[in-house]
Amino acid sequence: MKVLGIETSCDETAAAVVENGKTLLSNVIASSVDLQAVYGGVVPEIAARSHIESIMPVINQALSETKTSWKDIDAIAVTQGPGLGGSLLVGVMAARTLAIIKQKPLYAINHVEAHIYSNFLTENQPKFPLLALIVSGGHSQIVLMQGHFKYQVLGRTQDDALGEAFDKVAKILGLPYPGGPSISQHAKAGNPVAYKLPKADMQKPYDMSFSGLKTAVLRTAQKICQVEYDYPSGQLQKLLNKSQKADLAASFQKTAIETVVDKLLQAYEEFAPKSVVIAGGVAANHELRDQVSHRLPIIVNYPDIKLCTDNGAMIAALGCYKLMKKQKTADPYKLDIAPGLSM
Ligand code: KG4
Ligand code: ZN
Repeated sequence: MKVLGIETSCDETAAAVVENGKTLLSNVIASSVDLQAVYGGVVPEIAARSHIESIMPVINQALSETKTSWKDIDAIAVTQGPGLGGSLLVGVMAARTLAIIKQKPLYAINHVEAHIYSNFLTENQPKFPLLALIVSGGHSQIVLMQGHFKYQVLGRTQDDALGEAFDKVAKILGLPYPGGPSISQHAKAGNPVAYKLPKADMQKPYDMSFSGLKTAVLRTAQKICQVEYDYPSGQLQKLLNKSQKADLAASFQKTAIETVVDKLLQAYEEFAPKSVVIAGGVAANHELRDQVSHRLPIIVNYPDIKLCTDNGAMIAALGCYKLMKKQKTADPYKLDIAPGLSM
């Protein structure tokens, strides 16, 4: 069984073909990150416009790479939300049109749930009950799954997502967008205990918060540079030297990652899952992988690095399970985007 997955929730136009929920046959990603980097973040209009240009070439390439013709495709899966409205619209309209023309069942996919399914693209499938940590630029949450589609969100961020905090701290330090890879690169030369930064106290044990940590980095940088609180944050990068930036990057990364690993460990002890998986863009972070392997007494699954950030494969994988488990299809004449969708 082969499913075509289409993903356009943010700045990546992606399509992939997955067989039986576990075999990745093709995975094509066109990113507008270079266009966005100039602005230090995603500009929704630029993202939507580049999706329009790339969507059909990306889908056609995903099919041609596997030498799959439309008659071999059993269903189409598309990200319905959450994400940027203009971006989601391009993927959803393309998927609806193709579902009608090619007469294929259509599945509406929750992007955050799909991140978990990038861990199913392997022969060695995760087992239930499954504990999942999803940490990306838009989401940070811990989810317990008793089976496919049976999940409970244990906790989520109350403000910034973890990847978003990396992106914002990188901006303060004058490091290039996206901030996650730049922070972890600069952190290699830094001292992770150079600056003591706070971990947020939460009322619910599995909830998280990263905006206080980001502000603490800003205040520390202002202190180092001996400027007032109202000094423009965008100017600090000129006053900080290379080793101060490396120490701030390393201290921030250590504290931010420790915050989520503390919670993952606590959830592991409370719920005793058979598998633990990590997903989302921040799953590519080496500090996260190091801390997890040292602290959790179980082998934790990660997706392949190219499947950590947004991709069509995870959408197609979840689409396969929806098809195999006979979940409800979407109406190709009516399916609407859901920018605020949550798990
Ligand atoms: O999953 P993703 O591609 O998009 C969303 O759904 O948000 O995640 C992108 C996020 C960005 O915030 C980026 O800075 C972060 O993932 N990221 C990382 C690393 N690689 C990407 N954060 C920390 N360390 C990394 N190596
Ligand atoms: Zn994502």
